[in-house]
Amino acid sequence: MCGIFAVSGTQRNAGERVLEGLKKLEYRGYDSWGIAVRIENNTVNTIKKVGKISTSTEIFPEGTESLGHSRWATHGKVTQENAHPHRSGKVTLVHNGIFENYTDFITPEIQKNLLSETDTEVIALLIDTFLKKGELPEEAVRKSAQKMKGRFAILVMIDDIPGIFAARRGSPLILGRTETETFIASDIPAFLSETRIVNYLDDGEMVYVKGNTLQFSKISTGESLIKRDIEVPWKMEESEKGKFAHFMIKEIFDQKSSIASAINHSDEDIQKAVKILQSTNGSYFLACGTANKVCSAAEYFFANQAGRKINVVPSSEMPNFEKFIHQKTALVAVSQSGETADVLEILERGKAKGARIIAITNVESSSIARIADVHLPLRAGPEKAVASTKAATAQMALLYLLATADAGKITEGRQTLLALAANVNDLLNPRYEEKVQIIAEKIVKAPNLFIIGRNALYPMALESAIKIMEVSYVHAQGFAAGEMKHGPIALIEEGSPCLVLGGDEETLMNAMELKSRGARIIGVSPKRSEIFDEWLKVPEANGIQSIATIIPVQILAYKLAVLKGLDPDMPRNLAKSVTVK
Ligand code: M6R
Repeated sequence: MCGIFAVSGTQRNAGERVLEGLKKLEYRGYDSWGIAVRIENNTVNTIKKVGKISTSTEIFPEGTESLGHSRWATHGKVTQENAHPHRSGKVTLVHNGIFENYTDFITPEIQKNLLSETDTEVIALLIDTFLKKGELPEEAVRKSAQKMKGRFAILVMIDDIPGIFAARRGSPLILGRTETETFIASDIPAFLSETRIVNYLDDGEMVYVKGNTLQFSKISTGESLIKRDIEVPWKMEESEKGKFAHFMIKEIFDQKSSIASAINHSDEDIQKAVKILQSTNGSYFLACGTANKVCSAAEYFFANQAGRKINVVPSSEMPNFEKFIHQKTALVAVSQSGETADVLEILERGKAKGARIIAITNVESSSIARIADVHLPLRAGPEKAVASTKAATAQMALLYLLATADAGKITEGRQTLLALAANVNDLLNPRYEEKVQIIAEKIVKAPNLFIIGRNALYPMALESAIKIMEVSYVHAQGFAAGEMKHGPIALIEEGSPCLVLGGDEETLMNAMELKSRGARIIGVSPKRSEIFDEWLKVPEANGIQSIATIIPVQILAYKLAVLKGLDPDMPRNLAKSVTVK
């Protein structure tokens, strides 16, 4: 949550470059934004605005150093005063995370002088107080970071001191380097057009950056650290929209190849994860939102393929069951971003108890990937739209492969998945998109949408509801197909649109129960049924029908959003990576 970005270099348009970099991080938060540039006389000039940064064409004063922030509000309303950067004395600062104990540092006297309602302003104040006490700049930043509780990433400029200080605990920060300059960002796409050479700042570390000179050290002791340059395999075009109108539809179409990429792991790597599942006494699959629904689908994969019962709990609810985590527990974390706070916290506490951790993430450098004993990257390519689409199907594919490997049937598992990947490739074409568009036009005015599914299509009904609600703001609710008649069927009226996922006999019977009460039935299944008023054909995919079936619903959610004139990439109130609890 919140994108932060800085550049220290030689080119005199640092402000514009930070603006461009932040636009690429806007998916992390888009309530307000702000950029500070160090100008000629070594002071700092700051611009802050409410609203999305993507529309800005701001001109900045000349300067070779700049830092900026795109905000998802936590403390304080969405106002210009609360937008970052924040300033106190000689300190200008941006922050991603939460300074949990910030009120400990606010006396009534200080309170009177605060300009914002944010925890961030108090960090600037803390650093400036250390400077006033005569601490060297690096020590002032270090001592302040030592006092902060909670997860954070900060970027700091100090008047009269060239260079930028960065520190992190829990929230991501990655440095990109060229021969003359350095970029510091919450995520790689911010500087991917400039360089693919990166250094990762690990938890509890800080760095002082001036041009291309970097001094790494530990926050706790000040001990110097040496870092290795790493070349990331990401390609620039993967993080651009290209010919597509939005990232969401581009990423839906990326599923032509991402399902196959997700399972492109050696049998040995898959077996490392399976060994953990098989050598422990029970597992918890930890994830939030869409990734949690993916894990619920995996519950069926493991039960049906491997005869294994896995426990799936939304991570925010996991504290209730943490007492069951011990040395013989496997924790399987599934997260696109690899930074989701609710997941990460359980993993940290689980690791301390000796639990074994398997992580499935799309961001290989993420905190969740780094804490794991075994990490299986999704390799779906950057996912920038807030809605999880290609990451979700890649997660399901990889989890299905794990389930078949657990059953000793990895070769068959791979074949099934590759056959599906080929069918998805054929399915995703403009004609299919048009078919979905026609259905979207028919239902766009409906106030409610119901979705039913059975077996692994039940969690997909829940996931469909998330997808539709989050981007189109249409109220949607998913149910186990057999459950509608136990209550929710009372909501069905003449014309109520109901998505029916799957075409097995029992689900069709349930669809008929809805149709008899006036529902308009939209079937998403391999075979047509006379019960369907509309039909979206999906490929037959034995055991992984869930993967095939969610794709048209993703397109439908997208189309509903666009028909309503909404921005599907940046839905209101949301952010791509949720690094707060
Ligand atoms: O990065 P993660 O996969 O951990 O994110 C988890 C959820 O926040 C995420 O899946 C969210 O529900 C999506 N916006 C849904 O499309």
